[in-house]
Amino acid sequence: SSESVQYHGLLLPPVAHTLESLEYAQHFSVEDTDVFGVTYPKSGTVWMQEILPLVLNGGDLTPIQTIPNWDRVPWLEETRLAKVVDRLKSPRALVSHFPYYLMPQSLHTSKAKVIYIMRNPKDVMVSSYYFHRMAGFLEDPGTFDEFMEKFLEGKVLFGKWTDHVKGWRLAKLGDRILYITYEEMVKDLPEALRHISDFLGRNLSEETIQKIAEHCSFKSMKANQMSNFSLVPKKYMDSEKSNFFRKGVVGDWKNHFNTEQLARFTSVIRKELEGESFSLPWSLD
Ligand code: A3P
Repeated sequence: SSESVQYHGLLLPPVAHTLESLEYAQHFSVEDTDVFGVTYPKSGTVWMQEILPLVLNGGDLTPIQTIPNWDRVPWLEETRLAKVVDRLKSPRALVSHFPYYLMPQSLHTSKAKVIYIMRNPKDVMVSSYYFHRMAGFLEDPGTFDEFMEKFLEGKVLFGKWTDHVKGWRLAKLGDRILYITYEEMVKDLPEALRHISDFLGRNLSEETIQKIAEHCSFKSMKANQMSNFSLVPKKYMDSEKSNFFRKGVVGDWKNHFNTEQLARFTSVIRKELEGESFSLPWSLD
């Protein structure tokens, strides 16, 4: 069915998410060496699924060439995790779109690390709009205007962007969380990889950093069958309607928002983040 799943007030995708998988995720037993790549959807999740194993294993390409991304670095909240968990080798890498409050209890008592990637919400929305067009299991997004209203109201998968960001920016994980932006990764991937590998306590040579950057480029990932979703049946993801690896750029919102939409979007997001103790890394207008 294409009915979204509701969980603790949150809308979740109608495939690969069940009450069972969500409960399983909340009670997941986190290991000290686990690493979570966390995102609001369309902020660079699949990119992290490529990066994390390579940083953790010192640049060995085997996993990204032989294991599909959803089994290589499974989503915490999806049904697949329970099926592959025994095959994951420590240090394990996972991704998640969960808001902070839904993370497993054992995360808080463990030494596991989290990398939270944020992307300019205007580009997130554009990316999500095209994803809704190509993903057969998601509702048609309607017009850009209609989709924008849904996005701002949080009537989209995983809820409001501002709630997600607030929850994670205020997370009490001390030095176990690294905040990074999609924009930094696009601007200078080797530099972002140095931050990630330092954070994960890996001392990678410059040669290894360059090698990983090459294999995690938009072009290489788009060509990697184990990452580009070409193994997914067309009824779920139709690359003729829009490719999952669509553009991979910063600022595509400029080709989509008119002046009025921009003003409304900016004022809603600003208002919702007013008075917060953190600021956004990009200008919204
Ligand atoms: P666009 O639709 O703007 O192209 P997620 O994995 O969270 O669903 O995010 C998908 C977005 O990340 C898409 O954005 C996709 O193109 C982009 N992306 C994935 N891998 C990338 C890479 N290696 N470099 C740049 N962008 C990448």
